[in-house]
Amino acid sequence: MKVAPESAVQLGGRQLSRIIYTEEQIRERVDVLGEEISAAYSAEDDLLVLGLLKGSFVFLADLVRRVCCPLQVDFLVASSYGAGQVSSGRVRLLYDGEVRLTDRAVVVVEDIVDSGTTVNWLFPLLEQRGPKILELCALLCKERSVLDRQPRWVGFDAPGEFLVGYGLDSGEDLRHLPYIASL
Ligand code: IMP
Ligand code: MG
Repeated sequence: MKVAPESAVQLGGRQLSRIIYTEEQIRERVDVLGEEISAAYSAEDDLLVLGLLKGSFVFLADLVRRVCCPLQVDFLVASSYGAGQVSSGRVRLLYDGEVRLTDRAVVVVEDIVDSGTTVNWLFPLLEQRGPKILELCALLCKERSVLDRQPRWVGFDAPGEFLVGYGLDSGEDLRHLPYIASL
């Protein structure tokens, strides 16, 4: 089913107030990010793309198909939100990846940086595993100044609204929307 990008789209009983980034805008931006990441690394960097689940799964799947240097993919599950719309301020690692980080380039792929709590907590932990390079690629960033270390790649500097779609959820709903909308 195609959902027209009108305002106030009804979906599964939810009201979306407006579409913030269309499928086409996302595709164009992901193409550029893929080119930049391809240019930044070579085979010797032994690139690992490390996705933070669940929110990054759509972005990561599109992004890695635009990267032409050799790479591996792994995932982590960290949780700071629970079912709410406000960060709980506490982060837990619910699932740890299994692929080695030592002596290789690691690009962490995150769906959205909001309070920065997740990334600020995760990066020191990953540093301890001895990657040669550790960078962040966030599809969306609501506020860059909250981050202890600046991301190397940001898809869009997003408005401070609660966003859904393209992997981002509201209480596990709406991750499947091919665009990004404000609730
Ligand atoms: P932070 O720790 O506050 O930076 O939030 C990071 C995580 O919260 C993200 O990886 C998302 O999973 C979730 N999150 C933050 N803002 C939003 C939003 O607007 N919509 C959906 N999820 C969000
Ligand atoms: Mg996330």
